[in-house]
Amino acid sequence: MEQFALDAIEHITTRPPEVYDTLVVDPLTPVIGAEVSGLDLSKELTEGQLDELKRAFLAHHVLVFRDQTLSDTDHKRLAGYFGELHPVTLPAEGSDPYVLEISTTKDSRAVAGNGWHADGTADAEPSLGSMLYITRTPEPGSGGDTLFANMHLAYEMLSPAVKSLLDGLTAVHDGLLPWQGETPPAGYVAPRTEHPVVVRHPDTGRRLLFVNGAYTSHITQLSRGESRAVLDLLYDQTARTPFLNCRVRWTQNTLVFWDNRCVQHHATWDYYPHSRYGRRVAINGQRPQA
Ligand code: SIN
Repeated sequence: MEQFALDAIEHITTRPPEVYDTLVVDPLTPVIGAEVSGLDLSKELTEGQLDELKRAFLAHHVLVFRDQTLSDTDHKRLAGYFGELHPVTLPAEGSDPYVLEISTTKDSRAVAGNGWHADGTADAEPSLGSMLYITRTPEPGSGGDTLFANMHLAYEMLSPAVKSLLDGLTAVHDGLLPWQGETPPAGYVAPRTEHPVVVRHPDTGRRLLFVNGAYTSHITQLSRGESRAVLDLLYDQTARTPFLNCRVRWTQNTLVFWDNRCVQHHATWDYYPHSRYGRRVAINGQRPQA
């Protein structure tokens, strides 16, 4: 690996570790993801627990909580500690407007999120993060893991030459892109927004790569061919650099909370004909800034 990429990794892995009094935080990899224990998420959190949870979230970007028993009310209260709830786009009739069902059966023909993406980046204000609570996993050993990628590190591991090419560019994110070849649901008004290609995390100021294969249609300042080539290069790096990734193996009643501002994720549909079921609550974010 090139020295500039190693330097980027070393910069993160040599940070002094965070110290927690009310939680146990076990990193999944040195750069992304952590299992958090010592919390019952069905109970209200103390100020101390919440402060530490917020610190762990910013340090690890993806937090995994095992063996939680949560009602929708608990789930929404937990999300509410981090901001206003983000309404579901086109909620099913009679369903909770803030709780999205994530469900796969042997009759499914497509599975939500089965490709690298961040949620809703065609919106002017994509969500801050999502909390996915999986209550039914495929048969043991049958897959259904979710992959996550650290988009800070994806940016930081690029060569200085590519970084300077990207700085100042903007890209269009198009809500119709995921529906290519299919008919979008009736009543869907597709959002379309231009965001900087490199943005800063609103809480930490750290830069990150903000384009994804599901929603980004093109880079505005480049020719069509150049845009395709640059986006493919960046998507390949996300998918093919294990250093950026962690993998969450779900067990029944696990909740995962990811930072949608700096993480991409990929559901893995590798468990046909088994079923998988969960519920997701998202939190409002703000407009990404360079
Ligand atoms: C999603 O993209 O939010 C779904 C993730 C998953 O089902 O693992």
